[in-house]
Amino acid sequence: MHISVIGTGHVGLLTAVSMAAIGHDVVAEDIDHEKMEILQLGRAPFFEPGLDVLLDEAIRSGKLRFSTDVEDATQGADVVFICVGTPAGANGEANLVAVEKATQEVIRHVRPGTVLVEKSTVPAGTAARIERVIAMERPDIAAELYVVSNPEFLREGRAVQDCLEPDRILVGAGSRRAFNVMRRVYQPLLDKNVALIETNISTSELSKHACNAFLALKISYANAMARICERAGADVEAVAEIMGSDPRIGQDFLKAGLGWGGYCFPKDLTAFRLLASRLGYDFPLLAEVERINSEAVDVAIEKLRSCVWNLEGKRIALLGLSFKAGTDDVRFSPALVLARRMIEEGAVVIGYDPEARNNALKELTSLKVATNPYDAARGAHCIVIATDWPEFRDLDLAKLRELATYPMMVDARNLLDPLEAKKAGFHYDSMGRSAPS
Ligand code: UGA
Repeated sequence: MHISVIGTGHVGLLTAVSMAAIGHDVVAEDIDHEKMEILQLGRAPFFEPGLDVLLDEAIRSGKLRFSTDVEDATQGADVVFICVGTPAGANGEANLVAVEKATQEVIRHVRPGTVLVEKSTVPAGTAARIERVIAMERPDIAAELYVVSNPEFLREGRAVQDCLEPDRILVGAGSRRAFNVMRRVYQPLLDKNVALIETNISTSELSKHACNAFLALKISYANAMARICERAGADVEAVAEIMGSDPRIGQDFLKAGLGWGGYCFPKDLTAFRLLASRLGYDFPLLAEVERINSEAVDVAIEKLRSCVWNLEGKRIALLGLSFKAGTDDVRFSPALVLARRMIEEGAVVIGYDPEARNNALKELTSLKVATNPYDAARGAHCIVIATDWPEFRDLDLAKLRELATYPMMVDARNLLDPLEAKKAGFHYDSMGRSAPS
C-alpha cells in the first residue's frame, strides 16, 4: 500500500520505518529541512535502540523515502498518517495548530477514498475537528475521505519492538471501509496474531488518555507508598512486588523513584484533566497524580539537604539526565527538574548521561557535564542517581567513593543495592527503601 507519514518526530519516524518494514511503500514528510537531510543519509535524528538499522534497511530496500513537500508525499497515498507535534499550550491544553495545518495541506492533494489517520497524541474530539476541516475545505470529496483514530502506544527506548510487536492495535473509525483499509495496513502484524481492537473514534481517542493517565497513576501510587514506607520503616520495593504479584494489579509501572516525565505523560495528563473539566466532569484524581509526581523531586531535594546541609556552593554529581533509560530525550525529565532546583539553590551540578548529554546542555545551559560518571563524581559533595540507566548498576562504587569529597549518595531511582553502597563507604539514601543495617 502507499503510505504517507506527515511529521517525523518519535511517533512519525517510527511509524514510517515500521510501515516500510512490514512491506508498504512509504513517503515521510517533514517541514524541517535539516532533519530531512540527516534522515536521507539513513541516520536517526534521535537515539532509539534499533532504529538506525531499521531506517537504513527501509531506505536501501526503496520502501521508504523522505520529502519536504506535502504534495509529493501524499499524492496517490492510500493512507496518510498525521504525526505532527502537539506541544502543550500555555494553558496546558495540547496545541493543535500543527494538526490543523497538516490536515489543510494534506486534503488539498489526496484523492477520494484516502484514509487520514490521527496518530499524534491528541485530545479526544480532534478527529471530529479534522472532519469539520475536511467538510469546510474539500466539500467536493469530503464524503469519500475517511478519518481514523489509531493511537500509538510505543515507549521511547523500546519503540522499535513496540511498533513491530505491539500488545494491541487500536483503530477507531466510523465506516466499514475505513476499518477494512486499516486491516490491510496492519495485516502483516495481524498475521502474527497481534490483537486488533476496532471501536468508534471517541472511544479510541479517550482510551489513549485513559491508558497514559492510569500508568501515571500507578507510578504516583508507588511514589506515595514510598513516602509512607519511609515513615513506617517498610520497603517500597517489597510492597510493590507483593502488590504486583496479584495479577489484577501487575508488576509493571510500580517503580518508585523520582517520578514520571517525558513528552507524553506530563502533557497528556494535563490535557486529559482539562478535557474532563471542559466536558463538565471534575477529575481531581488526575491533579493529585500530578501533585504526587512533583512531590518526588521535593523529596529528593530534602534528602540532598540532609546530606550536604546547604546546597549553596556544593558540588553535586548528577548521574542520569534523560527522562528514563534507553533514550536521549530530556523533555520534562525529572532529572533536569531536579538539576534546575539544585542550581537555583546555588549548587554546581555536574551531570553525566550515556546518551542525553547534548540535549541536556541545550535544555539547561547552566548545567556542567562530564563524559563519564567518575569525572562527574570527582570532588562531589553528593552523588545523585536520577535516571535508571542499567549501566549505573555496574559502577565501581569504591572508585566513586574515593573521588567524591563527601561520602554521600542519593539514589533517586532505587537502582543500587543499599548494602553494596554502604560497604563502599557511602552514606546512602534512596526512595522508600529501608536503610541498610
Ligand atoms: C508512555 C507510555 O508508556 C506509552 O505507552 C505511550 O505510547 C507513550 O507514553 C505516549 O503517549 O506516546 P514513554 O513516555 O516512552 O511512554 O515512557 P514510559 O516508559 O511510559 O515512562 C514514563 C515515565 O515514567 C519515565 O519518566 C519513567 O522513568 C517513569 N516510570 C516508569 C517510573 O517512574 N516508574 C515506573 O515504574 C515506570
